[in-house]
Amino acid sequence: MPLSPITLAPHQVLYEQVAERLMQLITDGTLQPGDRLPSVRKLRSQLSVSTSTVMEAYRLLEDRGLILVRPQSGYYVKQSPLNLPQEPSTTTPPRQATDIDISLAFEVMDLMRNPELIQLGAALPALEQLPLAQLNRLMGKVLRENSLLAHAYGTLLGDLGLRVEVAKRMLDAGCSVHSDQMVITNGANEAIYFCLQALTQPGDTVAIESPTYFAMLEAMKCLGLKALTLSTHPRDGISLSHLEEALESGEVKVVMLVSNFSNPLGSCMDDTRKKQLVELLNRYNTPLIEDDVYGDICFAGARPKAIKAFDTEDRVLYCASVSKTLSPGLRVGWCVGGRYHPAIAQMKSIINQNTAIAPQLTVAAFLANGGYDRHLRQLRRAYRDQMIRMQQAERDYFPAETCMTRPEGGHVLWLEMPQGFDSMRLYREALDQRIAIAPGIMFSASGQCYRNCFRLNTAVVWSEAVEQAMQTLGKLAKTQLAENFLRADGP
Ligand SMILES: Cc1ncc(COP(=O)(O)O)c(C=O)c1O
Repeated sequence: MPLSPITLAPHQVLYEQVAERLMQLITDGTLQPGDRLPSVRKLRSQLSVSTSTVMEAYRLLEDRGLILVRPQSGYYVKQSPLNLPQEPSTTTPPRQATDIDISLAFEVMDLMRNPELIQLGAALPALEQLPLAQLNRLMGKVLRENSLLAHAYGTLLGDLGLRVEVAKRMLDAGCSVHSDQMVITNGANEAIYFCLQALTQPGDTVAIESPTYFAMLEAMKCLGLKALTLSTHPRDGISLSHLEEALESGEVKVVMLVSNFSNPLGSCMDDTRKKQLVELLNRYNTPLIEDDVYGDICFAGARPKAIKAFDTEDRVLYCASVSKTLSPGLRVGWCVGGRYHPAIAQMKSIINQNTAIAPQLTVAAFLANGGYDRHLRQLRRAYRDQMIRMQQAERDYFPAETCMTRPEGGHVLWLEMPQGFDSMRLYREALDQRIAIAPGIMFSASGQCYRNCFRLNTAVVWSEAVEQAMQTLGKLAKTQLAENFLRADGP
């Protein structure tokens, strides 16, 4: 099956184009699972590209779980890309700023901590897949070696060694930041809260993606802020034209986003749009709070850049943590505040002085010892495989009308049912069967949108029980849809 040489399309990297070509052959069935792919040498000469380009393309397909390498034998097709249901369309939330209603979130969060439920609701990492034994050993060592220091008040900005390690990691996200411009926080949520508190007064309006990570809504509610919700595409993120209109109206004080593999949609803006977003912020003199907790969990290729990487005027306040990759319980996060750094440091000092020292030193030691990249490689693969299993189960068990996102990283999946579907009913019926899900209205600022949607956590180690839970959810959804159909069709 000779392939013709590639002509480079604008805005596309050569190896990605080679990978696309091969993926097409796998998708249309020309190459079947178990088939051997052309050798690197053969493909190189057929396509007139370099050896490293072919190797990169094969690596990308391997990362996507489509091919596998057999040592001393070659590359083989592992599986065909999933024939996935349709994606949800771009959201169209109300265009005026609204007060925030988060009454449901507390109830759901409480249930999300119940170990007796199959937890498909909370966006928690699977603890079994985190390097807990290693972290526990390091924590013991840290406490033995710092038996006094670990109990003292720490420095306001946080442990310098940790800040240096985080600054090094941020180079991968395209950000060159100084450790003096960073505050270590109790997780990303605290960082987000401090940013909002430092930048706003009660009554101010914050422009956010919609649907929105509900802890952002909770923080805004606490601070008496209003939400201006932006149309959001499930893959590309917020509508920049909608944002521009909102900025033009003069009512937006701050913009706030999850930049990479957002929660709950899984969207990830490409670099061009990230750059355009920063240009808009500069033009309208507006700060952005960027939450990048999922950026390290990309399924294929290099980690996406942060919006902060394009920040020419120091307006982006960058927040992240190790909660999704190492340990949610250590509560170690950070904020790089740009021009607002002094205000963030002041907030930290007022609210809780400093983050506990032992967890900071433990994370610093883990990041410094070089095991983080290896761990990330395993975790990305595990999360990718679990996402695929969840998508397969959705395709097999859910009604044909279900639309589903296709995240390329992170660990949440967003499902959209036809209008009229009630995910609160599904939530309650699922609870009766000991299954937790996150109903869509939790992610709506007004508590009025996304009633027909719900979110599933995909960071669960696959088991018979999870498979059965998906089967049960599918059955409940089908029953509800059938009843809705009969009611609509009735006399
Ligand atoms: C988008 C997003 N940001 C922040 C967090 C929480 O981070 P942390 O546990 O570090 O406070 C979560 C957890 O679900 C999240 O999904």
